[in-house]
Amino acid sequence: MKLTDRERKILNNTFLDYQQTSAFLEAPLIIDKAEGLYYWDTEGKRYFDAIGGIFVASLGHRHPRVIEALRKQADRVTFAPPLHGVAKTTLEFIEKLGSVTPGNLNYIKPYSGGSESVESAMKFVRQYYKQTGHPEKYKFISRYFGYHGSTFGAMAASGTGKRKSKFEPQMAGFLKVPPPTYWRDRFSSWDECNRFSARLFEDVILNEDPATVAGILVEPIGNTGGIITPTEEYFQILRDLCDRHNVMLIFDEIITGFGKTGKMFAAQTFGVTPDILCSGKGLSSGVMPLGAMMAREDMAEAFYGPAEAEVQFAHGNTFAGNPLACAVGMAVIDEIVEKKLDQKARRLGEYLLKKLETLKQYGVVREVRGRGILLGVELVKDTGTNQPFPELGRALKKTALENGLIMRIDPTWFAVAPALIAEESDLDEMMGLIEKSFKEALNRV
Ligand SMILES: Cc1ncc(COP(=O)(O)O)c(C=O)c1O
Repeated sequence: MKLTDRERKILNNTFLDYQQTSAFLEAPLIIDKAEGLYYWDTEGKRYFDAIGGIFVASLGHRHPRVIEALRKQADRVTFAPPLHGVAKTTLEFIEKLGSVTPGNLNYIKPYSGGSESVESAMKFVRQYYKQTGHPEKYKFISRYFGYHGSTFGAMAASGTGKRKSKFEPQMAGFLKVPPPTYWRDRFSSWDECNRFSARLFEDVILNEDPATVAGILVEPIGNTGGIITPTEEYFQILRDLCDRHNVMLIFDEIITGFGKTGKMFAAQTFGVTPDILCSGKGLSSGVMPLGAMMAREDMAEAFYGPAEAEVQFAHGNTFAGNPLACAVGMAVIDEIVEKKLDQKARRLGEYLLKKLETLKQYGVVREVRGRGILLGVELVKDTGTNQPFPELGRALKKTALENGLIMRIDPTWFAVAPALIAEESDLDEMMGLIEKSFKEALNRV
């Protein structure tokens, strides 16, 4: 699209997330309107949103039920003062969210997004251990290639070096292990590679001294490393070693939550319940900023006592539990539950996986992976050497935009996660755009 001088000037005064303005100016996208599976730019060009914005618009854009819930709530109360009260809608939201969480993850604090949820989960765990006789437990182990948010704690837990090194020194007490994809060429089977990768967490716990380790934090499916999808056994091993060493298992389900993987949460897809689960993105389908931390119900006891004991969670945010956002979240959950959209994600995912697999005919796709409709395609120079092919990803970024397609491209892999309102015919349209863009990108490199 062409930019006006005014747009260009404003863009120069605008911070774009994790990208350089000069690069954005070469292939800009200014969105004017959105509905369902589509965006329109300011010139009226339509784009198929294959990634729900960025794993957010779980029900598509401006879903009528969600917009109606927002309108109704706007007519009642739009803000409740956190230090003096709590909105009725917020309580209803907590009850509703608790009804769909795995296990007994019913001790819930709503937030305005993913970073807040992760940041608070780690503070919560540290305070929990201080109040339950283990004040020396403070370390967290997470994974390289993982991303948990932009705030200081969530950033320290993230494993994306280049996003962090500019802000060093990082906080102390954050350790990392590589994800299973890092070792896969050294093992003859993916299962064995996963067993080894999961046990690395235990090596770190033992060598650090288990008495100092508070939590393991992982995305069940790791986006930033290219839709890294461990085995179910990987998570069973993590669960087991967390239990044996009194370490909290925290799932960052900011991408994987709310139906995408074929169940409401990836914890259910992989059959392992964490002690704490963090969510964001798809919970509001993008209609309001919303996230939540869900902890084991029994953990609430450690934070309950007389006022003078001051054992309450020493944490809060002005907009956390905002009634507008909570009304939106309830409508999203109701829609997913009533329409069984998680089951639909499983069905659509199988359909989409087969379609994406057809890209292997071009000889530059190593693997298509993921669960449900959260799928990723790894790009390589040839499937003999499996050398990464970032040039192809960069070219694909351009051709996709030219063809009116929005995906996550990073650049040695690309990911799709279309909204749960999509039907097979929509996926056919999306796949047509993907293949066209893919072939054009291949011709350019
Ligand atoms: C897995 C994961 N965790 C945490 C976050 C941070 O969420 P937010 O950007 O809403 O603060 C993100 C954002 O992309 C994410 O993908």
